[in-house]
Amino acid sequence: MIEPQNIEREAHHSLNRILPRVERILRSEIKKDRPGWQQFTSRLQKNFLTLFTLYGDVYSDRYDYFFYLEDLILSIARLWFSRPQDLRELDIGRESNPHWFESNQMLGAVCYVDLFAGNLAGIRARIPYFKELGITYLHLMPLFKAPIGENDGGYAVSSYRELNPALGSMEEISSLARDFRKAGISLVLDLVFNHTSDEHWWAEQAKAGDEEYIQFYRIFPNREWPDRYEQNLREIFPDEHPGAFTFFPTLFHGRGGWVWTTFHSYQWDLNYSNPAVFNRMAEEMLFLANEGVEVLRLDAVAFIWKELGTNCENLPQAHTLIKAFNAVARIAAPALTFKSEAIVHPDEVIRYIAPDECQISYNPLLMALLWNSLATRKVRLLSQALAKRFKLPLNTAWVNYVRVHDDIGWTFSDEDAATLGVIGFDHRRFLNEFYRGRFPGSFARGLPFQENPLTGDCRISGTCASLAGLEKALREEGENEVELAIRRILLIHGIILTIGGIPLIYLGDEIGTLNDYTYRDDPAHERDSRWVHRPRADWEKYAKRNDPNCTEGRVYQGIQQLISLRKENEVFSGNELEVISTENDHVLGFMRRYMGKRAILFANFAESPQNLPSRVCEQYSIQTKKILHGMSKITSWNEITIEPLDFLVFG
Ligand code: GLC
Ligand code: GLC
Repeated sequence: MIEPQNIEREAHHSLNRILPRVERILRSEIKKDRPGWQQFTSRLQKNFLTLFTLYGDVYSDRYDYFFYLEDLILSIARLWFSRPQDLRELDIGRESNPHWFESNQMLGAVCYVDLFAGNLAGIRARIPYFKELGITYLHLMPLFKAPIGENDGGYAVSSYRELNPALGSMEEISSLARDFRKAGISLVLDLVFNHTSDEHWWAEQAKAGDEEYIQFYRIFPNREWPDRYEQNLREIFPDEHPGAFTFFPTLFHGRGGWVWTTFHSYQWDLNYSNPAVFNRMAEEMLFLANEGVEVLRLDAVAFIWKELGTNCENLPQAHTLIKAFNAVARIAAPALTFKSEAIVHPDEVIRYIAPDECQISYNPLLMALLWNSLATRKVRLLSQALAKRFKLPLNTAWVNYVRVHDDIGWTFSDEDAATLGVIGFDHRRFLNEFYRGRFPGSFARGLPFQENPLTGDCRISGTCASLAGLEKALREEGENEVELAIRRILLIHGIILTIGGIPLIYLGDEIGTLNDYTYRDDPAHERDSRWVHRPRADWEKYAKRNDPNCTEGRVYQGIQQLISLRKENEVFSGNELEVISTENDHVLGFMRRYMGKRAILFANFAESPQNLPSRVCEQYSIQTKKILHGMSKITSWNEITIEPLDFLVFG
């Protein structure tokens, strides 16, 4: 361990030892690209102490630490030399504007390449559609080489440098990224860095008994260690396998062994206590950055570090490692932004968000509580969470969403809920019943996901429209209910588009796509209900998006109006938020501020009209403001009545 008081001196010495050696090895590259080398060394000097400290924190106890440190710097330098010129320019731009993603012009979207457009060529052909919608950030879900059949929607990666051939080739990625950039769209891809598929070359070597690669994973010859670890672990996919380990009979030359598999048995957790794993993954990360990826979604961040006697989630070393990856990016691909995917307790979600860790992060709490408010028609938990947990450090942002490709987990804080007299366990049970459509008054058509009879835990699958009532309304009810369902969809989208941060649309939701039950006929998907909300895009339905007489058109035009509301009003930049106490349990109120501008927003979660008391109208001088959005007609300025499920915006 390096003594903290010596760290600067040691960093200085280490760099002075490493740099000349790197210089010797890369002599010919340096000769060809002197300015590049200068740029590299200046960023290295600037960030080395940080990287040295973080990397040392995790690895300096090892006898071979210095070998790996030097290996890392050499890798970073090599990858820097292959960074294309246009991206180096982007680096400079982003360094001088690190909060580029806070603009009200930002609009995110996410889709599967094959399901949305067949392949990468199809995605490219859809650029006009992305522009029509106003998208500036597009997350293409994992498109890498993956096992045939079950592969967790691509989240089991067999090579980070090859694509699933059905989708396209790696060369297409860099040219697509360029075309995107010309169209004002940042390409977002996953860095699935907690695990690889069991068909990744590293895993294949481990299976073949290569000691070096066995160390890339967490593999045990018997149950001794797995049993000890499992005493404290949560089960993530209990439907698929109990516990966190999977037995592979061919390991250890046929004697068999247990592999740490947090998710599916074919997703092998990487062993980050081995610095070789960090170094190789740093290379994969920079490789993707050099293809033109601007935002990397760090998948399953919570799980990357394991420590006996803990639940192996959100451990301090997970943060240290992500910060170390960040330092690597600052040196050799500074344009890169990290997005954290931590679907965990809100106290933990926030810890990943910082300019030197993940600059942006999913906001699973807002997502869950929007659905909670629709079910309960009440906003108490939501208001409380926004007041208490929305604020972020400078130069970071939330990615706000209502649905993505995953299930909905009710990750609100039980402690927060208790202060409002809500019992977390019981309330989750209610929400699960409600969204499965089994609770009186439920409008939802959701499915259970990973129901665990032992713990009573369950999550919910379903598309936005089906969960918001559109499926039930169309099939079993009538126009009244259809209208309410559409209002629900628009209400929650209105909030994510204005609340502060980057709104993220799960493509398909903008035309009210319903659940697709055909996944039950596909052996690769039948056991995973998340496929109910992963349908193939129906372009005949998309063609109707401007027809105000069908549901597709009604949802699409409503969403378009909300997007315009966001893009035409700079006040929706940044993330400064003040929650307004509306004195009405059904109405969420908040104020947005940006550069001297203000907007006041109200969301009525009830299916009946709701009044805003005169005190609120006066306090926020509502009568002096313009209505920017909403269908409520104002007849009296000192007591406003908000229409059922209306989103009323003053600016
Ligand atoms: C992330 C993905 C999810 C996947 C899991 C394992 O949570 O969003 O779809 O199952 O990681 O990679
Ligand atoms: C678990 C994980 C989360 C992942 C999800 C996939 O909830 O915590 O990271 O997205 O499973 O369904």
